[in-house]
Amino acid sequence: MSKLLIALLLCATPLAYAHETALTKVAVQTDLPTMERGADTLMNNCHSCHSLKYIKYRDLMKLGISKQKVDGWRGELGLDTPLLAQMSESDALQSFGTAPPDLSLMTKARDGGPDYVYSYLLGYYLNASGVPGNHIFPETKMPDPLGVSGTSDPAQLNSIKDQARDIVSFLNWAADPQQSARLRLGYYVIGYLLLLTFLLYLVKNQIWSRLD
Ligand code: HEC
Repeated sequence: MSKLLIALLLCATPLAYAHETALTKVAVQTDLPTMERGADTLMNNCHSCHSLKYIKYRDLMKLGISKQKVDGWRGELGLDTPLLAQMSESDALQSFGTAPPDLSLMTKARDGGPDYVYSYLLGYYLNASGVPGNHIFPETKMPDPLGVSGTSDPAQLNSIKDQARDIVSFLNWAADPQQSARLRLGYYVIGYLLLLTFLLYLVKNQIWSRLD
C-alpha cells in the first residue's frame, strides 16, 4: 500500500508542476536577418514601455544592422544613447501599477532564460468571459504585446510565434553582445597554444637528438 502511495506521489508531482509552468522551448537564432527582424519588432512593440539600458544605438550598428535603419529608430538621439523606453517610469507606474523592467539582461535574469520570455509572450489567452490572462505569469500587469490572445487564425498565430522567436533571439544577443567576439578570441588562443605546443615538440626533438 505504502509503495503504491509513493509511486502515485512520484507520478503526480512532476505532472502537476509541468502543467503549471511548462515552458515552450525556443530555437534561439544568431543570424543577422533574425536580429534585424527581432530589433524591428522590439522597437515597434516593446520599446514604448521597456528600456534596454545596456544597449546603445551604436551597438546595433556593430551587430551589423544598417545605419539607415538605426537612424530611423534613433531619430534625433545620438548613436551613443542607450535604448531608453519612450514612456517615463512614473507614467508607467501610474498606468500599470508596476514599472516595466529593463530588458537588457532579461534572458539571463529569469529561470528558463529565453524559453521563459518566449513562453511568457505567447502565454496570453482569453478566459471564458473574455478577460485576458497569462499561463506563465498569471498576475502580470503587462497587456498582451503581440496580440496572441485575440488570434485564432493559424497563419497569424505562426507569424506571432516567429515574431516572439525573433525578439527573444535579439534579447539573447543583447544580454551578452560580446559573446561572439569572445568565442572568436577563444579559438585564436587555442590555435596559438596548439601551434606553440607543436613548435616546442620540434625543439625538444632537436635537443634530444644530440643525445644517444
Ligand atoms: C504597454 C506597455 C508594455 C509593452 C508595450 C510591453 N511591455 Fe513588457 N512589461 C510591461 C509591464 C508593466 C511589465 C511588468 C509586469 C509585471 O511585473 O506585472 C512588463 C514585464 C515584462 C517582462 C518581465 C516579466 C517577468 O517575468 O517579470 C518581459 C520579459 C517583458 N515585459 C517583455 C516584453 C516584450 C518582449 C515586449 C514586446 C513584445 C513587451 N514586454 C511590451 C509593460 C509593457
